[in-house]
Amino acid sequence: MAHYMIKGGTSLVGEVEIAGAKNAALPIIAASVMTNETVIIDNVPDVSDIRALLDAIRSIGAYVEKINRHSFKINGSAINRQTAVDNEYVRKIRGSYYLIGALLGKYRLATVALPGGCDIGLRPIDQHLKGFRALGADVRFVPPGMARAEAERLVGSHIYMDVVSVGATCNIMLASSMAEGLTIIENAAKEPHVVDLANFLNSMGARIKGAGTDVIRINGVDRLHGTEYSIIPDQIEAGTFMMAAAATKGDVTIRNVIPKHLESISAKLLEVGCQISEEDDAVRVAAAKRLGRTTVKTLPYPGFPTDMQPQMTVLLGLSNGTSIVTESIFESRFKYTDELTKMGAQIRVEGNTAIIEGVDSYSAAYVKAPDLRAGAALVIAAMAAEGFSEISDIHYIERGYEDFTEKLKKLGAQIDRVETENDKRNFKFRVS
Ligand code: EPZ
Repeated sequence: MAHYMIKGGTSLVGEVEIAGAKNAALPIIAASVMTNETVIIDNVPDVSDIRALLDAIRSIGAYVEKINRHSFKINGSAINRQTAVDNEYVRKIRGSYYLIGALLGKYRLATVALPGGCDIGLRPIDQHLKGFRALGADVRFVPPGMARAEAERLVGSHIYMDVVSVGATCNIMLASSMAEGLTIIENAAKEPHVVDLANFLNSMGARIKGAGTDVIRINGVDRLHGTEYSIIPDQIEAGTFMMAAAATKGDVTIRNVIPKHLESISAKLLEVGCQISEEDDAVRVAAAKRLGRTTVKTLPYPGFPTDMQPQMTVLLGLSNGTSIVTESIFESRFKYTDELTKMGAQIRVEGNTAIIEGVDSYSAAYVKAPDLRAGAALVIAAMAAEGFSEISDIHYIERGYEDFTEKLKKLGAQIDRVETENDKRNFKFRVS
């Protein structure tokens, strides 16, 4: 099994290019099969969750051609509506649930294995199902662990979401794009990837208004057409590099970003004493001295993203004073703090709140990545710690970060992806 070996203690300095957003690419790839014409999608991140979804659409008959590493030509005309979407990878990723909305909208029938994803607490899909049912679909669970949604007619409806859910908002947008008449989603999620999906569907001929606000209006259309579309930059990958720059007292310019999407992260970094400057499509983060404390509460966009909570906690673990981080989106997203404690962090978790007593430095350790974002956060901690750390279960990190080690190395980090004892010895020999 591959690990990351890291020798910490080096400040990250330089420039890094951010890839396309994984969480926008997932619903967009699902949406691409809703037309029988060809769709070209650019700026697709090369990460394992995306490869799994591309394989899933291939497995039901879609044509998928890789034009280059980040561009794909997709044609969904040969999909067999009866074929269930199921394989071991579909069951591991979360984004596979977008195929329920997409196929239900196009074919009025979808049979999809229930989604997996990171273990960050209970992740129900009741709001997705409530939305499909409101459009007139019959939704039931069928063995082995599949959701089957079927409708003779899909008819637009007024849907009030009980919780702000990115997944449910996108899924209902997908199905209702091809329903009869008007659908209104109230209390919709406003994340940049929700807007990106709406823009993509509109470029295929859908009629969606209001994405990015909490009321989205979708006028259903009979058919969607081909398009070429480029996915937005990944807000969370960018935020992760911002935290890495701050935690290693570095100076990093993060390119190919939309600074507006990073405002809640920039604001917190400014508050703790980082220097931040913005260009049209770049943000520079520099930290010369020990940073200060703050309080953070995760919230739906435009609030502070839950997907940045572990990285922020790692940073605050090194800051001066007592910080409080409250997780309000997922019920158990602090499991990684046990691993961080092994590196010397002083964190007490009470319910959905972490109380962090900043320490002067972390110590190197052997830790396990418990999920995607927490895994990335532990890499940041290891880069800030003196000495050799080893991180296992990195397949989680590779679900969502393209070329993570290569990008970090370019910034001066001493990190390698190692497979064998020999690789480890070589790494130690090289960086000692
Ligand atoms: C998406 O998950 C992302 N995943 C997550 O990113 C991200 O953390 C999350 O949105 C919040 O921004 C993908 O886009 C594939 P939600 P999703 O539905 O859609 C509750 C990452 O690291 N809820 O917005 O599953 C839910 O339990 C991943 O890239 C219901 O109660 O999240 C949670 O408390 C991790 N019923 C809250 O809503 C539902 O039917 C928000 O979840 C749906 C959600």
